[in-house]
Amino acid sequence: MSQLYGALKHLVMEYKIHPILVNFTAALVPVSLFSDLMARAAGKKSLEEVGWWSMLYAACITPLTAAAGRLFWMKDDVGVPGMAIHKWLGTALAALIPLLALWRWRFYARGRRPSAVYLAVGALILAALVYQGSLGGAQVFSGM
Ligand code: HEM
Repeated sequence: MSQLYGALKHLVMEYKIHPILVNFTAALVPVSLFSDLMARAAGKKSLEEVGWWSMLYAACITPLTAAAGRLFWMKDDVGVPGMAIHKWLGTALAALIPLLALWRWRFYARGRRPSAVYLAVGALILAALVYQGSLGGAQVFSGM
């Protein structure tokens, strides 16, 4: 284990960085999608702006959330099926959410409202995110 890895792991474990960062990912993605949905329903440009910027922030923070998760890995997570899913789904989400933001940017750059297909794909990613959070929470509270 390199010194840098050891120092980062200590920081993440000591200050519980993963449980802090998960809140940003878990809030920004639904805020973005719901704002885009409401923008379609109400025709409000300001809600569309929220949709773009909050997805951009989600794309910036989620790779850090996933990296902190890897550093937060503990002995009792080894061999737990739910945590194996959590590990790989979280890694996939760290790539999918920036890709979704890239897609969202294409609408923003052209001054267009995001399509129904974008919102449907976003809803699927959100469902995966909810499942991801439930797996992490189930492990944290399994001993209670
Ligand atoms: C988008 C990505 C991710 C999200 C939204 C997420 C979400 C969560 C949530 C909500 C918790 C429960 C926190 C609490 O209630 O205190 C948790 C715990 C945890 N997550 Fe993640 N996670 C993500 C990625 C990852 C990745 C890639 C790993 C890598 C292995 C990971 C490892 C862990 C670990 C080790 C715990 C604590 C389990 C324990 O207490 O034994 N997470 N996660």
